[in-house]
Amino acid sequence: MPADIWAKWLDEADREGAAADRQLRILRSQVRDRVVHKAGLKRGSRVVDLGCGMGFLSLEAARVVGHEGRVLAVDSSPGALEALARLACDMGLDNLTTVQADISSLPLEDDTADAVIARSVLSYVTDRGLVLREALRVLHTEGILSLFEPVLSEEELVLDWGDDIYLWTRLRQVLERHHPAYGFNRSGLVDEVKEAGFEAVESFTWHADVTRPFASAEEALEELNSGLPGELSLAATWRRQGATEEEISGVAERLAASSTRISYHDILPCIYIWGTKPPREATS
Ligand SMILES: C[S@@+](CC[C@H](N)C(=O)[O-])C[C@H]1O[C@@H](n2cnc3c(N)ncnc32)[C@H](O)[C@@H]1O
Repeated sequence: MPADIWAKWLDEADREGAAADRQLRILRSQVRDRVVHKAGLKRGSRVVDLGCGMGFLSLEAARVVGHEGRVLAVDSSPGALEALARLACDMGLDNLTTVQADISSLPLEDDTADAVIARSVLSYVTDRGLVLREALRVLHTEGILSLFEPVLSEEELVLDWGDDIYLWTRLRQVLERHHPAYGFNRSGLVDEVKEAGFEAVESFTWHADVTRPFASAEEALEELNSGLPGELSLAATWRRQGATEEEISGVAERLAASSTRISYHDILPCIYIWGTKPPREATS
């Protein structure tokens, strides 16, 4: 994946988040607080934030662990890391270090972290097992992994597809085969965490209502083109697999036409998962 497709996207998402209504902001902070809480952070903890972006989790983790603690905020996007370093400096957080790296090959020593945290990151990597095994490696015994991921493969998008149902079914299958975020379900992801070597793995689901009407077919098309950055967008994935512009526009038109109806809804299950690194003799 090109290194810096995320910086602009995250910057826009951050501005949208700041402008969001109070209820949405509360929901976002609940996600952040829950991931941090499940990681068992306390003053002095050493934390690694995988795919930290502009610090949604890292900044809160740095506040919680205090001057005695340390947060290593790891991301492949230099733009996001620069923005995070500036924010941390503005907030007077001197315990946060940004690390530009691929999270499937962390430039960190074994057995050095008390906690590894991540939000909405595994969805965008092709080899989740590799990333999870890296998380296990850098944690010390009884260190905690705490994750949050949207589960797009289980999204409940209810609208009247009419004759387009065949097209939509085909395009959904393309996403399930070729887009990392559609490549797992909830129990599969929990199994992957266990297979990586974690124990005492627990999880729960939060159903996010992401229903929103599209004002026009252009707006729906924009979402298909740019709802995720670069090659990760749904439209880009479809194009790579041979979908035509007409087919993609057809989906956008149907979305826009149906999304203002009362029967339309879009529910996205999101999963929290946390687990512990077992003592060495128990690690297979
Ligand atoms: C959806 S954003 C989430 C950012 C942040 N965790 C948050 O909650 O706002 C995904 C982040 O994962 C990073 N990322 C994706 N794949 C990566 C990889 N293989 N190595 C390092 N970072 C990666 C992207 O650069 C991006 O910042």
